[in-house]
Amino acid sequence: MATVYVNNKAIDIGNERLNCVQAAEKAGVLVPHYCYHPALSVVASCRMCLVEVGEKKPDGTIAMQPKVVPGCQTPVKDGTVIVTDSPKAKAAQGDTLEGLLLNHPLDCPVCDKAGECKLQDYSFQFGHAQSRMIDQKNTPPNKPDISEKITLFTDRCILCTRCVRFTREVAGTAELTVVGRGHHEEIDIFPGEPLANKLSGNVVDLCPVGALGSKDFLYKQRVWYLKEEDSVCPNCSTGCSIQVDSNKDIVFRLRPRFNPLAQGHFMCDEGRYGYHYINSDTRFGKPLEQIEVGQFKAVSWQNALSGIKKEFLLAGQEHSDQLYAILSPFLTVEEAYLAAKWFKMISPNSKLALGAVPVHGENDTYPKDRRGNATSTVKFTIRAEKAPNRLGVEAVLKHFEGEVITFDQVVEAVKRNEVQGLFLTAGYPDSKTIDDYQADRLDDVKLLVTLDLLPSTVASGSKYILPATSFAEKEGTYVNYAGLAQGLKRTVKAPKECRPEAQIFMDLLGLPGLYNAQTIREMIAREIPYFAPLAKGIGEYGVKLGT
Ligand code: SF4
Ligand code: SF4
Ligand code: FES
Repeated sequence: MATVYVNNKAIDIGNERLNCVQAAEKAGVLVPHYCYHPALSVVASCRMCLVEVGEKKPDGTIAMQPKVVPGCQTPVKDGTVIVTDSPKAKAAQGDTLEGLLLNHPLDCPVCDKAGECKLQDYSFQFGHAQSRMIDQKNTPPNKPDISEKITLFTDRCILCTRCVRFTREVAGTAELTVVGRGHHEEIDIFPGEPLANKLSGNVVDLCPVGALGSKDFLYKQRVWYLKEEDSVCPNCSTGCSIQVDSNKDIVFRLRPRFNPLAQGHFMCDEGRYGYHYINSDTRFGKPLEQIEVGQFKAVSWQNALSGIKKEFLLAGQEHSDQLYAILSPFLTVEEAYLAAKWFKMISPNSKLALGAVPVHGENDTYPKDRRGNATSTVKFTIRAEKAPNRLGVEAVLKHFEGEVITFDQVVEAVKRNEVQGLFLTAGYPDSKTIDDYQADRLDDVKLLVTLDLLPSTVASGSKYILPATSFAEKEGTYVNYAGLAQGLKRTVKAPKECRPEAQIFMDLLGLPGLYNAQTIREMIAREIPYFAPLAKGIGEYGVKLGT
């Protein structure tokens, strides 16, 4: 076992191969750094992580190296001594900051990064109180056209090259580069080749200062007003761990949350910018009942739920095996479980099926070369299956139904006039997921109830429409393509009178009280062996199922 000494504190690092920044972090000591990022190559260019390093000999004496060294580029081994708080190390860090701030425009009052900027934070913690700069600052022009989604405030850049390395090493598309020399170095694109890869939004998170800004978020919020909550991206079956940033119940941005069991450090642009439907004005906000063809009126939850219950019970008396519930792969495990329970309570002969699973093309893997071919070491995958919880819903279906009836099978059963009642859960961000042919068939069902987010052609044929909630408005569990169960936390209040689906099914089941995700998770873990690992809670990185 290797022992490293950080500011006189002994830390056991086991067999891990760490650098000084990582070893210090294990000791709870922050070594300031800009260019270093655990998912990128080490270039040691910013010199912010300068520390004193030495070696503790077997006889107990310590031999220190004469100069400060960049901690990010210095590996540690048994006996390594790291000093971050000596006058020498502190002076080196302060001087580096003074150098970086010489040309920095100090835009903090208008800069989007203010509040989460490492230049601000480190200046406060490690910098000099005053600048000795008397010359005019270098002010290269901004470059708003480097990308459709991203703008570059060139003068704020500290040339850490994280963005350049990301496009070369993770995206592989290498759109960004450093042009010029010395004092005139700038980040730029190759002429006519904008930053346009499907992972490009990550450079904004990677930029330690406010040089790269997301146009989607630019000047919308000061970050200290944002409430952050952990969640899971619902836009494909990778199930990236994310953080939802909101204020006053409006979602303003999604950012990746590091998860070694899911996607690692990053997320794709499809997921990152794919949240706007949550804030859409066209969302269903109240239960609706169709009173005449094409005419809906708002009804209370009580009336809607008792009407739905009554009509399904009635339909079940006549055709108990012709009642179907379609469980969307956008439902959480808890919602699917409660829905299945309710539907089997109406009639044990009723059938449960899986909702339409959107699949777009093939899995898209990165890095790619300039011709767009994926290289052999895959670092990130955007999955073709555009739903977050097919596996979780399928496990519920197998438990209650013994098999997975597909959406297409239900559509065909409707065509054969074998479906009298259909409870359709949808909740797709894209209201065209159920295509016109399928919607037309479902329209023929005598009793159709839709639980959905956005108006669609299916909803227009429904007897009742119940408003659904988005992933940001509920608690629950999604199981990704690899069987990793992750927890969603409620970040914003759902609009108007929306209720979380789990609560709707609890009400239909007649279960008392308010929905609590962990209570239902424990119930599921006891009843369905596949979900047994959920009994102990779900944790920050989620729980692997089926192992
Ligand atoms: S734009 Fe940001 S990430 Fe890129 S080199 Fe400049 S400071 Fe670093
Ligand atoms: S890869 Fe999939 S889960 Fe991850 S951010 Fe993109 S869409 Fe969301
Ligand atoms: S973080 Fe070590 S030199 Fe930049």
